[in-house]
Amino acid sequence: KKKITIAIDGFSSTGKSTIAKQLAKILGYVYVDTGAMYRAVTLYAMQHHYIDGHHFDVRKLVDDLPKINLNFIFNPEVGFGEMYLNDRNVEWEIRTIEVSNFVSKVAEISEVRHKLVEQQQQMGRNKGIVMDGRDIGTVVFPDAELKIFMTSSADTRAKRRYEELIDKGLEVTFDEVLKNVEQRDHIDTHREDSPLRKADDAIEIDNSHLSREQQLEKVLALVHQI
Ligand code: C5P
Repeated sequence: KKKITIAIDGFSSTGKSTIAKQLAKILGYVYVDTGAMYRAVTLYAMQHHYIDGHHFDVRKLVDDLPKINLNFIFNPEVGFGEMYLNDRNVEWEIRTIEVSNFVSKVAEISEVRHKLVEQQQQMGRNKGIVMDGRDIGTVVFPDAELKIFMTSSADTRAKRRYEELIDKGLEVTFDEVLKNVEQRDHIDTHREDSPLRKADDAIEIDNSHLSREQQLEKVLALVHQI
C-alpha cells in the first residue's frame, strides 16, 4: 500500500502524541513529535542563560540557531525516537514544567520556526510519517493526505497532563499544570507566525469522551478510507 503523510494538530495535552505513536507503530511509519524540537531549543536557551527568570534574550538565541543540532534517535526499549540536543539525550529534561512554561515564547520566534519546519519537511520527504504539533496540517505538510485536529476540554487536558507528570515523578500541582496548559494554548493560537488553527481540510476529533481505543479506531478507519 502507498505510504501517506499523516498530520495531527491540536491544543496541548489532547493526547495527540499517544495516538500518533500507536498509529505509527501499527502502520510501520515514522513518528515525529515536533513539540519535542521546540522544547529542546527552549532547553538550549535555558542552559545558556538566554532565558533567566522572566528575561529572555531572543537575539542571542537566534544568533546561536546554527549551533543547535536536533536529532531523533530510535530507542527500541520505548519504541520511538528520543530527542537529542547536540548529541545529548534530553528526552526527560524537555518535559519539565520550567521548559513547558517558556516553550510557547520560543515557538513565537519566526527564525526558530523556519529552522524547525525545514528539518520537519526533510524528515517527511519520503512519506510514511505521522507528525504531531500545531502547524503540521497548515504549514509543514499542507498537502498531507490525512489531517486530524484533536480537541478536548481544558480541564480534561490538564488532568491528563498532571497525571503524566506525576507518573514521571515530577513535582507539580494540578493548578500549575492547568495554568500552563491555558497559557500555552493562548499564546499558540494568538501568535503571528503559524498560529494553531484547524486546517480547512482537517478532520476534527473531540476526544473528551473517547477512550484511547475508540480514538485509535476512528483514526485507523480514516486511514483505510484513503
Ligand atoms: O506538543 P507539545 O505540548 O510538547 O509542544 C510544546 C509547545 O511547542 C507548544 O505549546 C507550542 O508552543 C510549540 N509547538 C509549536 N509548533 C509545533 C509543535 C509545538 O509551536 N508544531
